[in-house]
Amino acid sequence: LENGLGRTPQLGWNNWNSFGCDVNESLVRQTADVMVSSGMAAAGYTYVNIDDCWSEWNRDAGGNLVASRTKFPSGMKALADYVHGKGLKIGIYSSAGLTTCAGFPAGLGNEQRDADLWASWGIDYLKYDNCGDHQGRTAQDRYTAMRDALARTGRPILFAICNWGNDNVVQWGAATGNSWRTTGDIEGNWPSVMGILDAQPRYAGASRPGAWNDPDMLEVGHGLTDTESRAHFSLWALLNAPLLAGNDLRTMTAATRDILTNTEVIAVNQDWGGRQGNRIVDNGNTEVWTKPMANGSVAVVLLNRGSGATTVSTTAAQIGLGSASSYSVRDLWAHTTGTSSGTISTSVPSHGAAMYVVSGGGGNPGSTFSLLNNESAR
Ligand code: GLA
Repeated sequence: LENGLGRTPQLGWNNWNSFGCDVNESLVRQTADVMVSSGMAAAGYTYVNIDDCWSEWNRDAGGNLVASRTKFPSGMKALADYVHGKGLKIGIYSSAGLTTCAGFPAGLGNEQRDADLWASWGIDYLKYDNCGDHQGRTAQDRYTAMRDALARTGRPILFAICNWGNDNVVQWGAATGNSWRTTGDIEGNWPSVMGILDAQPRYAGASRPGAWNDPDMLEVGHGLTDTESRAHFSLWALLNAPLLAGNDLRTMTAATRDILTNTEVIAVNQDWGGRQGNRIVDNGNTEVWTKPMANGSVAVVLLNRGSGATTVSTTAAQIGLGSASSYSVRDLWAHTTGTSSGTISTSVPSHGAAMYVVSGGGGNPGSTFSLLNNESAR
């Protein structure tokens, strides 16, 4: 969506994965505090997002949404002011139906009223779900109505579509939202993360600045081992996915913090070299994923989905670089730079990934990069 927002994938946090409906103003304030004190804000994280279940069960007599008086006793305006005071932005949630997924009143038919209220509170981001009665209207129609209502508020509000890849969203998502979910809900376990990953290649051609494929929020530090979390973060970065932490930032381990604040991996996520990352080799348990970088280098993830450590390899030619006697290989997790005569190969732990940026050989072929036959760009 050309609204000036989401020119790079959005970075932030959302309460849903760890807290579900158990959201309240102290959680949001404390999370904003930790987003700054942990170094996440300095690494680029900006949005503190509230998911479902933030409102009262009914609109007021004037038809307006009301923030839960028990969960948000100080009110949303005060909370937004607090988050803004930290140099951060705040997000909220609704649905393109009569109710949210948890049954609270939602936006369909009340788009302008709700958008105006959020703007008056200082909201910067809307996640717009697909639950509730659709009143017989198409998804594109329902999401376009909210897009236009947000625009009329005059406040910049990032618009994140959440209709789980349904209704051919890749065909209209880029004109309607800053991102769109491609798949169902992620869970904090390895099979869920890998299942969602496998659904991403077919969407790879749809994303661009202002309009990102969203494979759902991060489960880094939430149900995954540190090794799995590094692989998940590497892959979501390579996909130019929105990076929305889903763990409890207040209690995260140093290892989780170090993963979320790996600025070299985040730099790959925020870079645009003509297309998002995609899988170029699928050998079953081992895979090679690549993304062209704007400076001509190629970001590479070597993934091991198997149950034991194994060597995963690629070559400069396979990732699209021209012939050279030597290539520079930056290891984004070890933070070391080496050289290669053409082979990039390492032992990768079970459920793990290595991530590199490889340069040399005259640069990458950009958006014309060849994909696997069954994963061609749209
Ligand atoms: C849907 C969305 C989730 C979350 C819940 C809230 O399932 O896909 O991300 O927002 O609704 O009820």
